Amino acid sequence: MTNVKLNTGQTIPQLGYGTYKIAPEDTVAAVTMALEAGYRHIDTAQMYGNEAEVGEAIAQSGIDRSDIFLTTKLDNPYHMPDDARVSFRQSLEDLQTDYVDLFLIHWPLPTLYGGDFVTTWLTLEEFFEEGRAKAIGVSNFLPDHIDTLLKHGTVVPAVNQIEIHPYFPNEVSRAKNAEAGIVTQAWSPLGRAAVLTDPVITEIAERIGATPAQVVLAWHVNRGDVVIPKSVTQSRVVSNMDIFDVPLTEEDHVRITALDRGEEGRQGSNPATMDRI
Ligand SMILES: NC(=O)c1ccc[n+]([C@@H]2O[C@H](COP(=O)([O-])OP(=O)(O)OC[C@H]3O[C@@H](n4cnc5c(N)ncnc54)[C@H](OP(=O)(O)O)[C@@H]3O)[C@@H](O)[C@H]2O)c1
Repeated sequence: MTNVKLNTGQTIPQLGYGTYKIAPEDTVAAVTMALEAGYRHIDTAQMYGNEAEVGEAIAQSGIDRSDIFLTTKLDNPYHMPDDARVSFRQSLEDLQTDYVDLFLIHWPLPTLYGGDFVTTWLTLEEFFEEGRAKAIGVSNFLPDHIDTLLKHGTVVPAVNQIEIHPYFPNEVSRAKNAEAGIVTQAWSPLGRAAVLTDPVITEIAERIGATPAQVVLAWHVNRGDVVIPKSVTQSRVVSNMDIFDVPLTEEDHVRITALDRGEEGRQGSNPATMDRI
């Protein structure tokens, strides 16, 4: 498993296991399956409603807490400092741990809270200073949001977790993150499976004897991004790990990146307008 260095000096496994849309009643089994397959990086969020089950699976696994990289995210209703403090404490309790490896602001919500996500960020800085979040970062932050944090914050985010897949390669945000020393994490790295039937992807997959998902995940990791694919299907959970020696050529990379559909390629919300609490 390849690791990527964060600006805190710590490392993050380049492949993690995503848990969005895994129902609470299915989460212990799913995360247990991922840990048994060898995943040591789990991505959850307050919004997913499955932190307690993620915590239960980790506790039951017998794996040392220090061997697992655990991320969770602040939910949209809790951007005010006291709400963030209460919800973060609850996350740690639900996850059965004293710390998370990474705590993210889930969405910038630039049209809510008077457009002030800096105060929220300064509250995450408290969690970082206390050691209850070993690293802090953001999710869905656009380049101008990053600039605002760089100007008004003390800590540079360790990570920006954003939508990236071949239909939405998100190059401008990736470049901004790189320039600021922020690691880019790709959410919906498979485009929620939409890209897996694209003829370019299936043709490359057939040629090199890999699955379409392996082709797409290899494209991500070769670009240096961290990926967090989600699957509740055991064979996919296992095959999605085997992505570090996929023989993609330069030309394959160019063809995959050219699948970019611009704004129409998004599978999720646009961070500039996302305002769901
Ligand atoms: N920060 C954010 O705002 C944000 C937003 C969205 C997601 N995320 C994170 O990113 C993670 C991944 O994103 P995602 O869940 O939206 O989408 P994704 O990982 O791109 O795609 C998941 C879909 O792909 C299928 N799949 C997985 N591996 C496959 C394979 N090898 N072959 C065929 N199909 C495969 C899964 O089906 P089965 O499960 O049925 O196998 C599921 O339907 C989330 O779980 C979450 O942790 C973060």
